[in-house]
Amino acid sequence: MSKYVPQLVPESENVEQKQLAQQLFEQQFKCSAQIVCHAPGRVNLMGDHTDYNDGFVLPAAINYGTTIAASSRQDNVIKVYAHDCEQQTNEFSLNEITFDQQLMWTNYVKGTLQALMAKYPDIKGANLVVTGNVPQGAGLSSSASFEIAILKTFSQLYQIDLEGVSAALMGQQAENNFVGCNCGIMDQLISAMGQKNHAMLLDCKDLSFEDAAIPEDLVLFIVNSNVKRGLVDSEYNLRRKQCEKVALYFGVSALREVTLAQLNSAKEQIDPVLFKRARHVITENTRAITTFNALKQNNMATISTVMKASHTSLRDDFEVSTKEMDGLVAIIESVLGANGGVRMTGGGFGGCVVALVPKSMVEQVKDVVSSRYEEEFFLKPSFYLCTATQGAFR
Ligand code: GLA
Repeated sequence: MSKYVPQLVPESENVEQKQLAQQLFEQQFKCSAQIVCHAPGRVNLMGDHTDYNDGFVLPAAINYGTTIAASSRQDNVIKVYAHDCEQQTNEFSLNEITFDQQLMWTNYVKGTLQALMAKYPDIKGANLVVTGNVPQGAGLSSSASFEIAILKTFSQLYQIDLEGVSAALMGQQAENNFVGCNCGIMDQLISAMGQKNHAMLLDCKDLSFEDAAIPEDLVLFIVNSNVKRGLVDSEYNLRRKQCEKVALYFGVSALREVTLAQLNSAKEQIDPVLFKRARHVITENTRAITTFNALKQNNMATISTVMKASHTSLRDDFEVSTKEMDGLVAIIESVLGANGGVRMTGGGFGGCVVALVPKSMVEQVKDVVSSRYEEEFFLKPSFYLCTATQGAFR
């Protein structure tokens, strides 16, 4: 049997995307763009629904992202062409930023620029062409990569000395205050500050972080269940509220401050659903740190066990998985055994599972998933074989 060498999305991917953005810019605006910027999407290896509890997460930036070709303008007008959206063009003035009920994508541009202008009110307009390859609504942070790409673009166009953590906070502000999603900081921060070939352990309490190399023989193997994500925002915001209630019960600012022993000793006093939510968050924080250390030691047996425990906790305690994601995890687990790890990733309610797969097993996993997933769930899976890339501000 010949040894299989997986076809990873080549590093030149961004180069091609940048060339495309430049070409499209020339078509739209009849001149060359001054700059072309890129920001990556992300996959989270461990620590879901912990970021808004001041906890720990372990994401990596991936080689799928958003690219923007841009030129500055003398006036305050923003003209955008979004190549991958149905209604592709939009124009607005920086003097009058209002929420667009029809054209959702434009709100990411508007919200992000509003957050940027709160600190840098002197920026002027721009002509922009946007293109990207992060699948939308799959839990790989297409919107965070869009926000960070906008911030990178404007920081370059107007020589603003913006560093990555501030950019991430502005992206999150756009989501929280303009778009209306109460997300945490993970997605924007990894898109801004990820390091090539590394995963990042981020402490969401003080935004300090440390990187761990992803062992060379492992592939970030992402499978999209292709289940249309439903009720995402309302369920997400409900989970946040439930976590806040438990924190309030203990009189602390966030669940990060509660230990498992404290939670267990209050079991009889806490509503059983809230108890499960809190148990997920507290144990998931520990799993993020354990996985980070295991990555550094290339200890696959531990990674495998911990990823399994995380999926179970997201499924049973936090209740954000779906039967299709559970099915994908079970299928992949049956091939990998202790040679790799797999879990659902991101906010949940559909979207992707992530697996750490030895290069030598990639083809086998792909084959088994291709045949069994469709047989059991009547859906075709999509595969993203990723490498960890550099964040836009690193
Ligand atoms: C979404 C949010 C993140 C995080 C994850 C769950 O991706 O944007 O802030 O809460 O869900 O871990």
